[in-house]
Formats: sequence, structure tokens, C-alpha cells
Amino acid sequence: MGDYWTHQCRTAYLEQGVNRALGTSGVSRKDVTMFDLDQFIAECRAASAADRPHKNVREVVARAVSDPAAILKGLGEPRRSEVQKLYHSSDLTILNVIWAPRMTIMPHNHQMWAVIGIYTGREDNIFWRRIPGGHGGKLEAVGARALSTKDADPLGENIIHSVTNPIAQLTGAIHVYGGDFFGAERSEWDPETLEEGRYDAAKTMRLFEEANALYRAG
Ligand SMILES: [Fe+2]
Repeated sequence: MGDYWTHQCRTAYLEQGVNRALGTSGVSRKDVTMFDLDQFIAECRAASAADRPHKNVREVVARAVSDPAAILKGLGEPRRSEVQKLYHSSDLTILNVIWAPRMTIMPHNHQMWAVIGIYTGREDNIFWRRIPGGHGGKLEAVGARALSTKDADPLGENIIHSVTNPIAQLTGAIHVYGGDFFGAERSEWDPETLEEGRYDAAKTMRLFEEANALYRAG
């Protein structure tokens, strides 16, 4: 697991470096607007350290995804279903999440605030809650939100959601979390029974790899 994340992180930085090199090659200086990952991380860190971190970080993410072409240039065009770790500390995690076409991830919580910004494609979020007095932490659906390119949506720390990419192309999203996304004790819910279990990060990664295999086969 650790190696996987480290590899993804290194790949993202490497691609950014290559893109930077291309952007400053002198061939063309027009349309050079580029998503600067280091600057974005610095802005998220500053915003999350200030008052009302959730709201501030949403504004940073909204500004970033308002120029999807710049993010595609800076992070690279999505090519496969994956989760790239862009930044990770004890109080902030930033991920580049690429959803395969039609891919669905089971209901889960984060136990920390989050901001989701879409820079290509779509995300459909279903929101859930534990049925009061229900057995096994069983869920009921309480809402939904359709996110499109340029949307930046805040999620409260008690949110339980599932995510579907409803379209036939890869969806790219920047996810920012107000904590250690990988270290937090969290729950996921069985998609068939909707009963609660312990979050299994390795299982989630397998879902991304399975979705990627289907995407490549398709
Ligand atoms: Fe989530």
C-alpha cells in the first residue's frame, strides 16, 4: 500500500515536472495558464490553517477547477482509473481521483471535512445516514448531488456518501480532506446489505484496479 501511494505521488510530480518543462520550452508562450501543484498545495495549507478552513479550502478548489484546461495541463490528462496522492500530512490530504466510466464506490464516511472539485467529467453523489435504531448501522439514502466539471462541493465531517461516475469517460476530481485520510478510522457499508463495516483501503484500491481493467478491456 505504502509503495503504491508513494509511486502514485512520485508519478504525479514527475508528470508535473515534464509539463512544466514543456510549458517553458519557449515554443509558445500563449495559453500557458498552468495549474501549479506546489502553489495549490500551499494555498490549501494556508486556507486549512485559517478560520473556517472548510469554506476557505472550497474557495481554493473552486478557483482551481474554474480552469479545467489548466489542471489537465498541470496534472496530465486522465488515462486510467486511479488515486494519486498529491499531498499528505496529519491534518491535510490532497488526492487526484480518476473514476473509471460507470464506476461506483460503496457508501463510506471520512470522519473529516472534505472538498471535491471536478475538473473533467461528472460525479454523482448519494448521501446516506444510519437508520435511527437500525441494525448493524444500516443506511438509508437521504439525498443526492450531481457534480459537473467546475463544481467544487464541500462535505461535512459526518457525511456518508457513495460516488458514481455516470458517464462513458474518465472523470477527474481533486479531493481535499481536512485530516489524515489514510490514518483515520472509518467505515464503509456493504453495497448489497447497506450494513456497516470497517473501511478497507486495500479493497477500495482493488475496486479502482478492477474498474481500470474493465476500462482497458472496453
Ligand atoms: Fe468519499
